Amino acid sequence: MTAVPPPVLRPRRSCLAVPGSNPRFLEKAQGLPADLVFLDLEDAVAPSAKEEARRLVVAALNEGDWSGRTRAVRVNDWTTHWTYRDVIAVVEGAGARLDCLVLPKVQSAEQIVALDLLLTQIERAVGLEAGRIGIEAQVENARGLLEVEAIAAASPRLETLVFGPADFMASIAMRTLVVGEQPPGYPADAYHHILMRILLAARAHGLQAIDGPYLQIRNPDGFREVAGRSAALGFDGKWVLHPDQIEAANEIFAPSQADYDHAELILDAYAHALSAAGGARGAVMLGEEMIDEASRKMALVVAGQGRAAGLTRTSAFTPPAR
Ligand code: GLV
Ligand code: MG
Repeated sequence: MTAVPPPVLRPRRSCLAVPGSNPRFLEKAQGLPADLVFLDLEDAVAPSAKEEARRLVVAALNEGDWSGRTRAVRVNDWTTHWTYRDVIAVVEGAGARLDCLVLPKVQSAEQIVALDLLLTQIERAVGLEAGRIGIEAQVENARGLLEVEAIAAASPRLETLVFGPADFMASIAMRTLVVGEQPPGYPADAYHHILMRILLAARAHGLQAIDGPYLQIRNPDGFREVAGRSAALGFDGKWVLHPDQIEAANEIFAPSQADYDHAELILDAYAHALSAAGGARGAVMLGEEMIDEASRKMALVVAGQGRAAGLTRTSAFTPPAR
């Protein structure tokens, strides 16, 4: 059994959705502090505007200033007739300025493989580095969730699994129209199983797990509650639909300064303990806490998230006197 590689640590605390058919939003998004921006060709674009949106998205990638952010485009799903032209237009037109494609409504591993093959052909044909463009798979229907483990293993291009709550709720006929909110009358967390299943599949394959949108954009408390729920489970970030949601997501999906400092301290203290100078010990006390190899793994996650979020240490490790 080979070890699962560590997750790709592109920051994705906030993933901003921008309708690809709206030039004003495409312009405005360039000044916003989201970790990732995805230009949408799918559900935020009316069928009659799909072709024009492809043109606008290619121009925005080529001419816009997206520095410091991961650049993604969401294409239409494979059950439509738009997907292949979306991919060809965007990758041939602006592939060098694109980091990832988001594939929505993924229902099987084959759909990921098909996108991977198409991407590889285009990269070869136009002289782009083969395999550089990543794939984000949206899990947003019952079939996708049942297939999530195979989907997560389908391609080395995969970087994330993304929960799509709106489509998912429609797919299983969940009884609420407020996306991401608990259905009235159910006494527990209706999303726990879904989120956990996506998270486990992601982690088993070294991928990030991203929570989907919260549509009540004028309800900051609701956003915080829903984002806090997936952050607590271990999700890496969430889609945002409005500038007001960006800062909340950046905060909620990064460790606190205290947790980050603590994690770095555990890593230093444990590295020291293992060294000859520290007595080559596998379990030591750090203050009041016993730390061992499992503590190191937990600390590595929090330290990695903190570094990806741009945190810097505010305390240093001092080796204990022996
Ligand atoms: C996002 O695409 C969703 O369906 O929630
Ligand atoms: Mg959707």
